[in-house]
Amino acid sequence: MSEIPVIKIGLCGFGTVGQGVWKHLTRSRADLEKRLGARLVLHRVAVHNLRKQRLVKIPAARLTDDAMAVATDPGIQIVCELMGGTGLAREVTLAALRLGKSVVSANKALICAHGAEIFATARKHGGHFLFEASVAGGIPIIKALREGLVANRFPRIYGILNGTCNYILTQMEEQDAPYESILAEAKRLGYAEADEALDVKGWDAAHKAAVLAWLAHGVWVKPRQMVVEGIDRITPADFKNAATLGFGIKLLAVIVRDFDTDELSVRVHPTLLPEGSVIANVNGVYNAISVTGDVVGTTLYIGRGAGQDATASAVISDIADAASLLRCGRGAQLIADETLPARNGCKLAPPEHILCRYYLRLTVRDQPGVLARVASVMAGHHISIASVIQNPSETADAASLVLTTHQSHEKAMRSTLRDLARLASVIEVPVLLRIGDFND
Ligand code: NDP
Ligand code: HSE
Repeated sequence: MSEIPVIKIGLCGFGTVGQGVWKHLTRSRADLEKRLGARLVLHRVAVHNLRKQRLVKIPAARLTDDAMAVATDPGIQIVCELMGGTGLAREVTLAALRLGKSVVSANKALICAHGAEIFATARKHGGHFLFEASVAGGIPIIKALREGLVANRFPRIYGILNGTCNYILTQMEEQDAPYESILAEAKRLGYAEADEALDVKGWDAAHKAAVLAWLAHGVWVKPRQMVVEGIDRITPADFKNAATLGFGIKLLAVIVRDFDTDELSVRVHPTLLPEGSVIANVNGVYNAISVTGDVVGTTLYIGRGAGQDATASAVISDIADAASLLRCGRGAQLIADETLPARNGCKLAPPEHILCRYYLRLTVRDQPGVLARVASVMAGHHISIASVIQNPSETADAASLVLTTHQSHEKAMRSTLRDLARLASVIEVPVLLRIGDFND
């Protein structure tokens, strides 16, 4: 009887995600092993602080504080990089790939910054880099784009890609609770990044949008080339105004390709969505992604986008794929990164080609003529006003003006915002939100 092969796995990082992977892989190992025809051994784990108390207990002999030793351990075939960051994480990833190992990663910041180098290294040395957990937590969106929707080109992908922000927005809307206390709760629940600014300022969603844009269109778009706006200036008043206008507010990533002009736009910003739309009703830590393919039409994916269990589910799926690649070699070809079709060739859309309707909230002096001055600035940039609401402001002698516009382009809107902020009668930095017209 032939011996069952043993596949050894190393974890670099044993925080929220790493402990989830250990816990759930231990629980489901027997079933997985049967399906894979191999034994899976969680061989070594690297952490930063060996003395830290952890909820998931593992034998001390398996722990080290040397992540590179795990990545280069000759006995380990699959290395899971679950530390985060772009420094040591990059070194560990490249070192393992150079040795022909497979690397499983949840690290969207790393992929966005160094994806081209990482995939080239995997290709060169015959290993694989798998990254299902890097976008939308437990939703298998990477597999969907790469495998299930392989027949398609993608004119539009948009959705909620950050669980922390969606959790914060939902709590702000439902409980009228202060932003800081909700953010603290999102951190306690293990949703937020070590640097929470990545979440609330939109950068984490931008990293994920870059990964999806690369999968769908074969180009690396850097966050600095995108419009990236976060949720940290949204107040309960914006939810009330949006509701009056018939909308909810979500932080969306939007990836649009015009196949006639071959222009691609990738952006992340808080967006007003019609309150009856499906995505406007996806709440809490859940993510939702609408993918429109030219063959399939529109498909929608909803699930938990952050947190220990959802993310562990995606990491373990990649471990299973990596094990399967080790067992079957190139038989399992479609999932391998080197088989991605080259779809390069599109260019980034300039701001004057990005069209949208806008919501603008201005805190202004409550004096005669102010509305006329605001309207004049907007008219000067050919921005057409669709509606105006005036509310009392919490600031003395001030009013809150909420304007919506007809469709305008991003360049004109940015110039408008700059000129409005210069008006003496505008007393706070204006808040600009986009209105999503997705019709699905
Ligand atoms: P945590 O901060 O909870 O865990 C990070 C782990 O890395 C800790 O165990 C830490 O050690 C270890 N670590 C940090 N520096 C070093 C070092 N120099 N050497 C060895 N180990 C080190 O992060 P998460 O688990 O939340 O996130 C990990 C990755 O997964 C990130 O890339 C994140 O973006 C991504 N991700 C996270 C999700 C989530 O919901 N949390 C969802 C999807 C992706 P120690 O414990 O000793 O401090
Ligand atoms: N901080 C991220 C989020 C983790 O909240 O979505 C999942 O990638």
